[in-house]
Order: sequence, then structure tokens, then C-alpha cells
Amino acid sequence: MRVLVTGGLGFIGSHTVVEMLADGHEVEIVDDLSNAKASVLDRLEQLTGVRPPFHRLDIRDERGLDAVMAGRGFEGIVHFAGLKAVGESVDRPLRYYSANVGGSTTLLSVARRHGVRTVVFSSSCTVYGAPDRVPVSESHPTRAPSNPYGWSKLMIEQILTDLHRSEPGWNMALLRYFNPVGAHDSGVIGEDPRDTPNNLMPYLTQVAAERLPELHVFGGDYPTRDGTGVRDYIHVVDLARGHVAAMEYMAEHPGLHVWNLGTGRGASVLELVSAFERATGVRIPYRIVERRAGDLAETWADPSKAQRELGWSADPSLDRMCADAWRWQQHALGMD
Ligand code: UFG
Repeated sequence: MRVLVTGGLGFIGSHTVVEMLADGHEVEIVDDLSNAKASVLDRLEQLTGVRPPFHRLDIRDERGLDAVMAGRGFEGIVHFAGLKAVGESVDRPLRYYSANVGGSTTLLSVARRHGVRTVVFSSSCTVYGAPDRVPVSESHPTRAPSNPYGWSKLMIEQILTDLHRSEPGWNMALLRYFNPVGAHDSGVIGEDPRDTPNNLMPYLTQVAAERLPELHVFGGDYPTRDGTGVRDYIHVVDLARGHVAAMEYMAEHPGLHVWNLGTGRGASVLELVSAFERATGVRIPYRIVERRAGDLAETWADPSKAQRELGWSADPSLDRMCADAWRWQQHALGMD
């Protein structure tokens, strides 16, 4: 298929481009480089032997997007472009709603004009709010997220759902990710946060690299097996493969689909730290501090719908996720 990937130079986007190309799809990338580097394009070429056409563009730029899509015959869009820092979204809600919700409505309008009606959307398990039970399946109701980032994901899901209802010819995949970590096993692409990372794995790898002095474990008194927060960490390459599977599935099964992408296993913060130390041989100094506002005690996926329908599954090995994240961190810092 001929596919446009928005945010295709970002963390999950770049890994998805690699998997799309590996499966024989043609890819073009739109990215405004607000949280990605142009050099990722060189890295993609190094990894795949293909340099996908790249358009530096904010997806709110309707005329620019129009020019990208005109006459290109795209058969689908994988839509990653958006802002993702939860804390920043609380301080700058308009920026988040404009980029994420405004960007998505513009993208959809232009796609519609050019007859592109297949969209894979980068959603999040944040749409479940604080779940009533774990593992969380897709039938769990969505509910008020605790921050504008989460709201923007839920709003875009609603927009896609309404659009599908009004024009059933659309094919939509709402992919609800759990916690993406790791990196391509080549060490050539990975997560490259501009500032001090907010998320656990990039923070941990920077502590391992001695760029940060110690890990702060947010809360040691949750009602979990060791008192620290439990999440479903998923290797980014497995997550990327989920996008390819969703796109290919919709060619045979049109409609609106919702899939959780997770491993189905929860790991605590301290279990991830142990796995990291085991997989890399590097010791992680840490200190248990206050809980972080808005954090859940635990959540993990019931991924059985994606397993059944897409024939997809994710490797639960934390050691592999940690080893790959560390290889990338060393590469990114020129340490290898
Ligand atoms: N944590 C720490 N120290 C850190 C960072 C995180 O102890 O420095 C803990 C958190 O408290 C949590 C776990 O590590 O228990 C994972 O935290 P992350 O920040 O890596 O991930 P979250 O689960 O908070 O957030 C992720 C995505 C969001 C999404 C959210 C939905 O990053 O985009 O899941 O639940 F909204």
C-alpha cells in the first residue's frame, strides 16, 4: 500500500516506517520536526536502504498538506503527529488541543478531499482513565482523562468515530497503546527526548549513562506487589508491527476498529529497574519519592482482541526492551 505517515520521524513513527517498508509498503513522511530530528531520515535510509519522501510540515497547514496529498494516490494514513508531554499539556492546553485535535481535523479534511479514507490512529490507554479492573479490554468504557493530552486523544477518537458514523466508507483503527519502550535492535533509531525525560525508560537510560544522578521512583506505597506503579511496557518494534497489521487487516475488513496494543503483563517500576540491571549489567541508583500527581497505581492490557483479529502479539521480555533501549542510548550518546 501507499501510506502517508504523519509524525514519521518521531519515536513510534520512525519504527513504524521501518516495519512498513519491510512489509513492502511505500511510505511518505510528514513531520514538522518539533520533536524529531531531520537526521532520523538518514538513519531510516541506513536501516532500510530506502529514503522515504519527506515533507517538513505542520499538519495544521492545510494548503501544505493538500499539496502533499494531491495526485499521490495514498491508500492510507498512519497518524502519529502530535504533542505528548502530559505535564506540559496541563500548563499549555491550547497548544495541545490545537496541535492534536486541530491537526487531526485538518488532516482528515484534506484526506477526505483526496479520497483517502483509511486511518490508523495513535491513541493511548489513557482513554480508559482509572480503569475499574485490570487487564483492561477494549470493552471497558472510556472516561475523563486527567489531563489535556489524554483528552485530546479521547476527542480525536470521538471525531474519528463520528466521521465513520456519518460516512461509513471510512476505515479507522484506534490503537490504544500501553507503555512503549525499547528501540530498534540495531541501535540506530530510538527515543530521543529533547529535554529531561518525563517517562520512566528514557529517564532510566539517562541515569545509566550518568547524565542524570539517580532515578526518582514516584511512590512506594501503591497497593501493588512492591508498592511501586505497575504498567504494561511494550517493545516499540512490536508496537510498530501492530500498525502494519492494522493497516493490512482493514484492507480485508473495512470499518472502525479498536485494538489495545500491550503485552498483557504488568511490571512494577522496581521490576523494570531490576530487568534493566540484569540485561545491561549497569547499576541504577534510585530513591523512592512522593507519588506523581495523576498517576495510576496499575494498568495493563488485555491484548487478546488484537491477537485474535490481527494475528499480532508482543514479546513480554523486559530484558529485551531494556537491552535495546540501552543499546540505543549508548549509540545516541556516541558511547559505543
Ligand atoms: N515513573 C517513575 N519515575 C520517573 C518516571 C516514571 O517512578 O522518573 C513511574 C510512574 O510513576 C509510573 C511508571 O514509572 O508508575 C511509568 O511512567 P511513565 O511516565 O513512563 O508512563 P505513564 O504510564 O505515566 O504514561 C504513559 C504515557 C502517556 C499516557 C499514559 C497513559 O507516557 O502518554 O501512559 O496511562 F498518557
